[in-house]
Amino acid sequence: MANGTTPSRLATSQLILLFLDRSTVWWLSKSDYPKADVRRVLVPYSDRMKKLHRNPEKYYSPKVRPSGHDISTEFATDNGGAIPSNLLQIPNTESVSQYLRLCSALQIEAHPARFPVKLPTFFIKFLTEPGDLVLDIFAGSNTTGLAAETTQRRWLAFEKERQYLAASIFRFLDKDVSEKQAKGLYMRLLDFHGSTHIEQTIIAAEEPSEEILDTQLSLFEL
Ligand SMILES: C[S@@+](CC[C@H](N)C(=O)[O-])C[C@H]1O[C@@H](n2cnc3c(N)ncnc32)[C@H](O)[C@@H]1O
Repeated sequence: MANGTTPSRLATSQLILLFLDRSTVWWLSKSDYPKADVRRVLVPYSDRMKKLHRNPEKYYSPKVRPSGHDISTEFATDNGGAIPSNLLQIPNTESVSQYLRLCSALQIEAHPARFPVKLPTFFIKFLTEPGDLVLDIFAGSNTTGLAAETTQRRWLAFEKERQYLAASIFRFLDKDVSEKQAKGLYMRLLDFHGSTHIEQTIIAAEEPSEEILDTQLSLFEL
């Protein structure tokens, strides 16, 4: 756009445009029928659908469609939610996360291209079951690991920039962790050059509280 004007600027400063941001997410599968299950990602029913559930006879007459498809009263069965559309509407805002809070407090640059956590959460729930292993080979600040953790999946994260990986630990610390403790963990991960498992680095961190150790040990056991 002319004069460095971006769609974001037109939306936020000049208030004459809606946000246009949209990214395509490719979902690839090794088989024709992968382990996907929409029942794990149902969304709330629309008001219209709720009305239908309350009184199916009033709002819908079962009939055979011209295609021959027989739409019975099962159409009105309440399945606990609707199948989501292909357009996921997820704001990319993370202003109150522990990750950003600790990055800011410790003057560490936050990862510049973080996912909103709802994005990996959606696909992890949709495509895996609790206990499955989720791998992110371009982990950045490890949003995927956090999403896997909070949905009871195991996870593995690879990231080539050590400082991003080290700061990702902030995502997994207790809310009441002190800045000193967080910094101790960060520094240990930053300096880590061995091939031992990550939990050994964390155990050796400066003055970790019992709670932190417990949390960390359970997080990294694979
Ligand atoms: C778009 S960012 C991922 C951001 C991440 N989803 C998050 O929410 O924080 C991609 C990451 O891949 C990392 N990367 C690029 N090439 C890599 C490689 N060969 N091996 C491991 N990580 C790599 C980059 O350093 C960068 O942090």
